[in-house]
Amino acid sequence: MAKTAELIIDGKSYKFPIVEGTEGELGIDISNLLEETGAVTLDFGYKNTGATKSAITFLDGDKGILRYRGYSIEDLAAKSSFLEVSYLLIFGELPTQDQLDKFSNDIKNHTMVHEDIKKILDGFPSTSHPMGVLASLFCAQTAFYPESLDPNRSSEGVYLSIVRSLAKMPTFAAWAYKNEVGHPVNYPDNSLDYCSRFLKMMFALPAENYSVDPVVANALDKLLILHADHEQNCSTSTVRIVGSSKASIYSSISAGINALWGPLHGGANQEVILMLEQIKKDGGDTDKWIAKAKDKNDPFRLMGFGHRVYKNFDPRAKIIKKAADDVLEKLGVNDPTLEIAMKLEEVALRDPYFIERKLYPNVDFYSGIIYRALGIPVDMFTVMFAIGRLPGWISQWKELRENKEPIGRPRQIYTGQNHRQYIAIAKR
Ligand code: SDX
Repeated sequence: MAKTAELIIDGKSYKFPIVEGTEGELGIDISNLLEETGAVTLDFGYKNTGATKSAITFLDGDKGILRYRGYSIEDLAAKSSFLEVSYLLIFGELPTQDQLDKFSNDIKNHTMVHEDIKKILDGFPSTSHPMGVLASLFCAQTAFYPESLDPNRSSEGVYLSIVRSLAKMPTFAAWAYKNEVGHPVNYPDNSLDYCSRFLKMMFALPAENYSVDPVVANALDKLLILHADHEQNCSTSTVRIVGSSKASIYSSISAGINALWGPLHGGANQEVILMLEQIKKDGGDTDKWIAKAKDKNDPFRLMGFGHRVYKNFDPRAKIIKKAADDVLEKLGVNDPTLEIAMKLEEVALRDPYFIERKLYPNVDFYSGIIYRALGIPVDMFTVMFAIGRLPGWISQWKELRENKEPIGRPRQIYTGQNHRQYIAIAKR
């Protein structure tokens, strides 16, 4: 017997079907609510609203579960690679060796960007935040590949756009960094793997025989896996709603990059390090800063803490915290902010304010500590998040288009002026 939900408005009963997901999640299908009742729902921040059905990523906020296409994040972070996880998210299955080799080679064949991109890059002053440069360069692909604007593009054409996106994102990211430090850009070295190729573009100096530390490349690969997708978060929902208007994959993802930039979302990893540095500079008094985070009159929040979905723990934070220990030890880095972070976590998780509100470290709390140990500059942390989240954005954009979902257009409750007559300016 199919489950239904009953709504009673002004004594009249309305019934709506309940849909059940493969993990037992329940959703009330209100597709006909306005037509049947004349009312809409109101849900600031969509805290209780499902925007779609998706087969890509499953989260369980209470149990701290994160799975990509059914595979646990713990398994994938320990055993897989970023390109293999990207293939899994985008095409739905783990690739065979031949499929992965072809995917990796297709990407290698597209890591170069058109030389005219440099003219766009040169327009950005060195004071430009790399996220703004990245979003612009990524969207500029619509100019170099106008066929991507075709809303009815063939699957072969969509595959080419997907390969170009994954291939060029690291190049755009490294070039945004070089623009900031005033160094000449490096071209991609396709003899290297995905992460090593990016690190060399980022850090190699002209005529330097730069070699990538495998510890750094492996740590980065794991971090990208951990950021690869996260169901309907702010930036992914942005990619989906832009994609729902049949905008190109490049403009849809450029919008996602901009949404990720916000300090409440992907920008939090940069804010966490700035917060830890501020606490260290202030003498490391974690109790003082925990009190500030709890004080409603104080705008300070404990960055990297809290999550819309995870109300027990963020499994990614657990993996990153352990990886932080390993990487810093292997690299011989002694970062006092790691001690401060661990002390903050320890104090906060004993504090009723955080316990009552189910606030735990999220993915951003420890990631900045690793990025810094890898030599990544602070304002490139969110760029790293974008590189990691790219396959997730691609997979969600592709799913929306394949499912032929309608254009996103939420409703509202109007609270403005009722009808009134225009008054000539001389009489106001
Ligand atoms: C990401 O959605 C995703 O999946 C995102 C992400 C992904 O992979 O895509 O996981 C990545 O964005 C992680 C989140 C990074 N952001 C931060 O670390 C910024 C700090 N955290 C918060 O601003 C907040 O926790 C959010 C934005 C993450 C979640 O906000 P919600 O769900 O809207 O919760 P809320 O702001 O309504 O907070 C509920 C209560 C409030 O207190 P009361 O009004 O009930 O008294 O908790 C308090 C908040 O004041 N609170 C915090 C807090 N986070 C929430 N108080 C102090 N410090 C914090 N960090």
